Amino acid sequence: MAGITLGRVKELLGREEERYSNEHPKSKALFEEAGKNFVNGVPMSWMRIWSGGFPLFVAEAEGVYITDVDGQRYLDLCLGDTGGLCGHANPDIVEAVYDQMQNRGTTTMLPTEDCIRVGRELEKRFKLPCWQIVMSASDANRFALKAAREYTGRHLTLAMNATYHGSVDETLCFRFGDMLIHYPGMMGPISRDPSETTRMVEFNDLPALEEVLATEEIACLITEPAMTNVGIIKPEPGYLEGVRELTEKYGTLLLIDETHTMCAGPKGFIGDMDLIPDIFVAGKFIAGGYPGAILGFSREVSSWLSERTPWQNFFGFGGTLSGNAVAIAGILAALEKVLTAENFSRMTSLAEEMEHGIARIIKNYSLDWYVARIGCRVEFRFTPRPPKNGGEALFTEAAYNEVDLIEEGLTGPLEALIHIFCANRGVLLTPIHEMALVGPTTTAGDVHKYVSILEDLVKELTA
Ligand SMILES: Cc1ncc(COP(=O)(O)O)c(C=O)c1O
Repeated sequence: MAGITLGRVKELLGREEERYSNEHPKSKALFEEAGKNFVNGVPMSWMRIWSGGFPLFVAEAEGVYITDVDGQRYLDLCLGDTGGLCGHANPDIVEAVYDQMQNRGTTTMLPTEDCIRVGRELEKRFKLPCWQIVMSASDANRFALKAAREYTGRHLTLAMNATYHGSVDETLCFRFGDMLIHYPGMMGPISRDPSETTRMVEFNDLPALEEVLATEEIACLITEPAMTNVGIIKPEPGYLEGVRELTEKYGTLLLIDETHTMCAGPKGFIGDMDLIPDIFVAGKFIAGGYPGAILGFSREVSSWLSERTPWQNFFGFGGTLSGNAVAIAGILAALEKVLTAENFSRMTSLAEEMEHGIARIIKNYSLDWYVARIGCRVEFRFTPRPPKNGGEALFTEAAYNEVDLIEEGLTGPLEALIHIFCANRGVLLTPIHEMALVGPTTTAGDVHKYVSILEDLVKELTA
């Protein structure tokens, strides 16, 4: 990589790790204590993948800032890996959730009047008529794939190579040549051979897609409209329209998962396109950070679901807390007050400034990196051009940076250095990704701060 050596990366990484460890004695001690009662010392394994050897323990989070237990304050560009996109403790969300909890109940297994407004707003934005509310995007995808199998009488799921749709067994694998392989280092062994449940094709490849769909064995194609979990990979012109045409032609349901790409705008990535999927999923921040996800169905699929008795829909769909009153209140507040056109327009223009700032660094220091953006989400990666698909992203980048996918995950020393260098200077990036989100209260000063920290790092790296 232009002017950057592994030796220099490791030297700086050692220095930064020492600083991180020295400056966070309380987090370090709490992490050691937590190790007695939590697997990997954390309540959820993702919290362990931050650089620095131990995660920061949070004292407070407000807007786009986090304060840790050692009293240090950070600009949060991770925003809970999108779960906090509405901003931490957003007053509109807090008011709605608090009011519901305090005055009207949390979970009664009965609907509330708010559902009516939520349903109307979801149909208006995402064009599908009929909805279910669940607890997470993983849940939504799991239920949707199950429904698709029953609806079509077919048993296979088709997904894009190197995709991620949550803790959904059918998609926790990647394609290597003609083989489907589980993500062993990332997700642990899953007993079923993925070839029994799943087929994978590369994103942006319509002929390959048609070949698999033509077998007429695929119940559902699940895809993001732009890939976001191996860097940002955008659809080529006409690709998504082609996907819609081909899935219709071969009787496969099309599930568009906008859990990450909703950052494109108030109607998501496909909202302004002439494209209506059969199933739509979004989660993470849809209830303003409170757990909740949305699962939309076309008229045909929802009619079929509605013709089944509630008992037939009882087993395998939903769960006791799904659709609870607080999640509904959170979704309503997020849609009506936070995920608005006005907020997205502000956030997107700041993200554009961030993208331009990073592009300038890449150019000025002749780095073989690229930067990409969807709405208020910006990410740079370590290859000279954006990859065309997931396979290319996984394997070119691994080869390029001499990273062993299985042994080291995707996190090479350079990535670790970037994250910890930023953290030591008061900026948090999303672990594993070089992903930064602009939230409703992010300022131009915040964007400038992040870009100049990155430039300082690149200066040191290339010195
Ligand atoms: C595209 C996509 N879909 C679904 C999910 C699952 O979301 P959750 O972990 O909230 O269930 C993720 C998580 O990163 C995702 O990236």
